[in-house]
Amino acid sequence: MATQVKRVTINDIRAMKQTGEKITVLTAYDYSTAKIIDNCNIPIILVGDSLGMVVLGYENALPVTMDIMIHHCKAVVRGATHALIVGDMPFMTYHVSVEDALRNAARFIQEAGVQAVKLEGGVVVEEKIKRIVDCGIPVMGHIGMTPQSINQFGGHLVQGKKLETAQKLMDDAKAVEQAGAFSVVLECIPLRLAALITQNINIPTISIGAGPACDGQVLVTNDMLGLSDFSPKHSKQYAKLTDIMTQAVNAYRDDVKAGVFPTKENSFIIDNDVLEQVKAKLH
Ligand code: KIV
Repeated sequence: MATQVKRVTINDIRAMKQTGEKITVLTAYDYSTAKIIDNCNIPIILVGDSLGMVVLGYENALPVTMDIMIHHCKAVVRGATHALIVGDMPFMTYHVSVEDALRNAARFIQEAGVQAVKLEGGVVVEEKIKRIVDCGIPVMGHIGMTPQSINQFGGHLVQGKKLETAQKLMDDAKAVEQAGAFSVVLECIPLRLAALITQNINIPTISIGAGPACDGQVLVTNDMLGLSDFSPKHSKQYAKLTDIMTQAVNAYRDDVKAGVFPTKENSFIIDNDVLEQVKAKLH
C-alpha cells in the first residue's frame, strides 16, 4: 500500500513564524511543475492569477476567470501531495457581495481540491475574509501592490512610501489578521515598513518585493526559472530555462532535418511477413 504523505497545514505555517523558520512559497499552474516544487519540500504552492500573464499571455491578471483558475488548480492538486495549495481568487469574484465571495471560495475547495484561497485587499475585504474563514476555508491575505488594482494604482508602483499609505498598509495588515487569515502576502512595499508590519502582527508575512524581514518569500516560478518575458526587480533568476529550451528546440529541428532523429532505437518493428502481406494487397 502506498504511504500517505502528510499535507502541510495552516497550523504548520503559523508555527513557522513562532520558530523563526523561513517560509518558502512558489507559484505553479500545472501538474509537472507542481510535482517538482512539491518534491523540493516547498510548503506552500500558490496557483496565482499571475497565470494570466505567464501561462496565457495576457497583459495582466484581470481576464482570468474562476473556470480558468479551477482548471489549473486541479492540475496542481494532482501534482502536489505534500504542499498546502492556495488558489488565488480572480478579479471580481469576491468584490460584489459576501455571497459571491463564499460561493467562489467554496468552488476552490470543492471543485479544485485546494486547501486555502487568497484574496487581495485589507480593510475593504475584512468582512469577506471573516465570513470565508467562518465557513472553514483558510484565507491568505494580500496587501500592498495588489495586481488586480493595477489600473487604480496606475501601474506596478511600490506602495506605502508616504505616511498616509504606509499607515493604510499597517491598518490593512491588522484587518486581515483580525479577520482570521492564516498569512498575508506583502507585495512591493518598502522593506522597513514590511519589517514593522511583520513585528506587529501574529500571522506570517510572505514577501514579494517587501524585503528579507518578512516571515517568508514568494516568487512567480516562471520568473525565477527565467521563463518570463522579463525579470522584475524584486525577483531573482535561479535558472535561464528559456535559453535551455531554445537550445533543445533548435537541436530537435536540426536533428529532424538532418535525418539524425528518429533512429531505429526510437522506432517500432513489424514482422517481415506481415509487411509482405500488406505489400501484396497493394497490387
Ligand atoms: O498571482 C500571483 O502569482 C500572486 C503572487 C505574485 C503573490 O499573487
